[in-house]
Amino acid sequence: MSCKKKALVALIGSIFMAGASTALAGPSAKAMADTCAGCHGTDGQSVGPASPNLAGMSAVYFIDSMTAFKNLEKGAWSGEDARPATIMNRIAKGYTDEQIEAMAEYFAAMPVYKADVPHDAAKAKKGAAVYDKACSKCHDENGALADDDSGILAGQWLPWMQYSMQDFISGNREMPKKMKKEVKKLSDEEIEASLHFFASQK
Ligand code: HEC
Ligand code: HEC
Repeated sequence: MSCKKKALVALIGSIFMAGASTALAGPSAKAMADTCAGCHGTDGQSVGPASPNLAGMSAVYFIDSMTAFKNLEKGAWSGEDARPATIMNRIAKGYTDEQIEAMAEYFAAMPVYKADVPHDAAKAKKGAAVYDKACSKCHDENGALADDDSGILAGQWLPWMQYSMQDFISGNREMPKKMKKEVKKLSDEEIEASLHFFASQK
């Protein structure tokens, strides 16, 4: 191939690539994520009390959650990969899988945000032992390890965690089988204490 021809091929190639990436890009991840701020706070740092922090959430957990909200909107229910929601079903259906992935990576790249959550210190102290025994295996680093792909619980808003736990226990949201095995052994007080423990993390 002549030098000129090579250059032409490269040029056409780059035009094609640029075209393809513009077509895919649409709104940037940041622009999409900014629309979540009204409820989840600026940069995924919620001001509470019932909207969860998103900053630092694992991409896997984020994508699973958004997909489950979408599935709810399509008529699926718990056990069919859907999650109960009051509003996220309608929000999630507005995004393509690619856009959800882009937002997932955007939030996952942020450090985990631990909010200043009102909690009961005595309950949190009791909850530390419950945590060690029943939760630490999967919610490592006191609930701050995003790699666990099980949500962010450290410094997470207490009412949000309480709603989530109620949904799990009532069967409204499918509780992971191994988590259920641990939770079943606990009293209501112990479960409540473990949530105060997570809320107390700074
Ligand atoms: C009008 C308020 C509102 C807006 C706007 C909103 N959310 Fe939510 N979000 C909620 C509520 C409330 C929940 C709890 C589930 C429910 O009831 O729908 C939630 C839950 C979530 C969860 C699950 C978190 C967890 O810990 O399991 C994710 C992920 C999420 N939202 C992502 C987003 C993204 C991404 C956007 C923007 C594209 C967004 N939300 C916009 C209110 C909102
Ligand atoms: C065997 C692993 C395992 C154990 C043990 C476990 N969890 Fe979980 N937990 C998970 C996974 C996985 C999820 C994410 C479920 C999903 O995707 O819907 C989760 C989700 C949660 C959520 C919801 C988070 C959100 O943002 O919606 C709460 C709250 C929670 N766990 C609390 C606890 C508490 C409290 C304990 C201990 C008493 C515990 N978990 C023990 C694996 C576990």
